[in-house]
Amino acid sequence: MVGSLSAELITAGLKTSFIGQRVLYYPSATSTMDIARVEAQKNSPEGTVVVADEQTAGRGRAQRAWLTPKGSSIALSVILYPDVRRLPYLIMVASLAVARSIRAVTGLKPQIKWPNDVLLNGKKVSGILIENGICGNTISYAVIGIGVNVNLNCSGIPEISQIATSLSDETGKPVSRLAIIRNMLTEMEKLYTSLNSQNTVFEEWRDSLITLGKRVKATSADTVYEGIAESVAPDGILSIRTGNGEVVRVVAGDVTLRE
Ligand code: BTN
Repeated sequence: MVGSLSAELITAGLKTSFIGQRVLYYPSATSTMDIARVEAQKNSPEGTVVVADEQTAGRGRAQRAWLTPKGSSIALSVILYPDVRRLPYLIMVASLAVARSIRAVTGLKPQIKWPNDVLLNGKKVSGILIENGICGNTISYAVIGIGVNVNLNCSGIPEISQIATSLSDETGKPVSRLAIIRNMLTEMEKLYTSLNSQNTVFEEWRDSLITLGKRVKATSADTVYEGIAESVAPDGILSIRTGNGEVVRVVAGDVTLRE
C-alpha cells in the first residue's frame, strides 16, 4: 500500500513542541472526533492527534457523512485547549495548515472556500470540522477534525464525483499521506502559536479565500442569503451584499459559489 501510517512514523523527528508529539493511531475507527472528544475530556496533552486509516462513521458539518475508505485518505483530529479569544481563528489555522501542506508537498495551488473548505480547481479536497467543549463561559477543549482526500479516486464514487477531488486525482500520481500529515501538523503549530503575537493568520486566510467578490448563496441555520460576498472581518464573519443592497453578516454556514 502506498505509504502506511503509524504513530511512530508521524512523530519521528517531528519539529513541533506539542502538536503531534502524542499520536493515537487506529487502523479503523467510527470517527476520530469521538475518540478525540473522550481524550480531551480526560485532559490528554494539548496537541494530541487521533488518526484513523479508515472511518466507518466519519462526519462532516451539518450532520453530513464524510467518507474515509481504508488507506486512501487522511482523517485526523487534533486536541487543543484554546482560550475563548482564539476560538474564531481555529478555522483559519486549520484551513491554512492544510493549504500550506498541500502546496509544499505537491506544488498544487489550493484555495479556501469560506469558511474552511479547501479546494483544488473548484472541487473540495479537504473538509474541516471543529467541535468545542464548553463549560459555562469557558472553552474546556476544541477538537479540530481534518479530512483530506489524498489517494482517493473521486470519479469512481458517484456521491462525490461532481464536487470532490483528491491530491492524486490532481497530480496524476500517488501522494504520501505521511508527508502531508507531518507538514500539516508543523504548519498548524506555527499558525496556532503565532496567534499570540500578530494577526497575519487572518490576512493569509482572507487572501486565500476564493469566495470574496463572487456571487454566492449562503445557508446559515434555516436562512438562505444570495448576493455578492463583499468582505470578511478578522473574526471570520462574512458580509454579503444582497440583491436589494442590504449587507448581511453570516457567522457560520455553507456557501455555494454561483456562476
Ligand atoms: C466538512 O467538510 O463537512 C468537514 C469534514 C470533516 C471530516 C473530518 S475527517 C477527520 C474527522 N473525523 C470526522 O468524523 N470528521 C472529521
